[in-house]
Amino acid sequence: MRVGGEHFRAMSWCGGVGGSLQWIDQCQLPHRFILRDSRDAEAVASAIETMQVRGAPTIGAMAAFGLALAFITDRRRFESYWLPRFRQTRPTAANLFHACDAMESVATDATDEGMIHAACAYADSEVERCRKMGEHLAEVLAIGERRILTHCNAGWLATVDWGTALSGIYHLARAGEAPSVLVDETRPRLQGARLTAWELFQEGISCRIQADSAAAWMMAQGRVDAIVVGADRIAANGDVANKIGTYMLSLAAREHGIPMYVAAPESTFDLHCPAGAGIPIEKRSDDEVLMAHGVDSNDQEHLIRIATVGVGANNPAFDVTPNHLITAIISEKGLWKP
Ligand code: MRU
Repeated sequence: MRVGGEHFRAMSWCGGVGGSLQWIDQCQLPHRFILRDSRDAEAVASAIETMQVRGAPTIGAMAAFGLALAFITDRRRFESYWLPRFRQTRPTAANLFHACDAMESVATDATDEGMIHAACAYADSEVERCRKMGEHLAEVLAIGERRILTHCNAGWLATVDWGTALSGIYHLARAGEAPSVLVDETRPRLQGARLTAWELFQEGISCRIQADSAAAWMMAQGRVDAIVVGADRIAANGDVANKIGTYMLSLAAREHGIPMYVAAPESTFDLHCPAGAGIPIEKRSDDEVLMAHGVDSNDQEHLIRIATVGVGANNPAFDVTPNHLITAIISEKGLWKP
């Protein structure tokens, strides 16, 4: 998608075997657009852990490139060290494990070029899935549902290109419709306020940021036609793990008769997990809740404390929405009723 009119992906490989992985540092957005270069598998694993790259399909593609780098630079420890290293970076998004499995299966008799090629093919296939999914989602949203509420960042930054929830909105906009988007700020890391609003602004799509706690009231006021979110893992019964706060949205949506759509590519489905209770939920640092990060009017970065020193916090990064609260799941293959 576009940044200042130029096309970018969340990450891309530059050059051949001697080349490097170029990726957007999402922790710097929206204040700074910084592209980083890595030829070091550990730097790639660490970027996933620190959420400099985040979003389920992007995490998967990043791990695929990281494993290609690990294969080239430290082939001897590819299976014993690097596969477990990448699988341990974040626990919830199924895409990470899908990508690690895909790279493991090609590594058996691959060359260095073959591993780079496999990682590029993996990223391209995620982009294509998201593009197709967006077409299906746009058809659903075109039926009068153009005031759309979304949560977290389910855009191109989260999926290499296009997005999951936002892919449908981008397709609608390109078809000449004028969707308007209510963006939940998405405490505590503010992926909505920092990333989703930035993406939509770059694409010229009308949006407003709201506190997460305003969502139910906006629904009650008749100002939401549909809710569209992405997913980090979908269990076999259609229960959906997504960013913390999604479950709360689904409860309010049910109360107000508003459709709740989930958009996700096949790589997010975990058919080995029978139900949401089996999905591992990442717990992150208390400081993400207790501290705030941003820039002042002189563009200087600050990390400031919000709460009383000594008070702890709960910080589950995801929740599970039970399938009966979901209107439909949209994948690249079409629309599914849980
Ligand atoms: O913790 P994050 O920012 O990686 O969480 C991302 C989300 O929860 C997204 O909604 C999800 O990955 C689906 S969109 C690709």
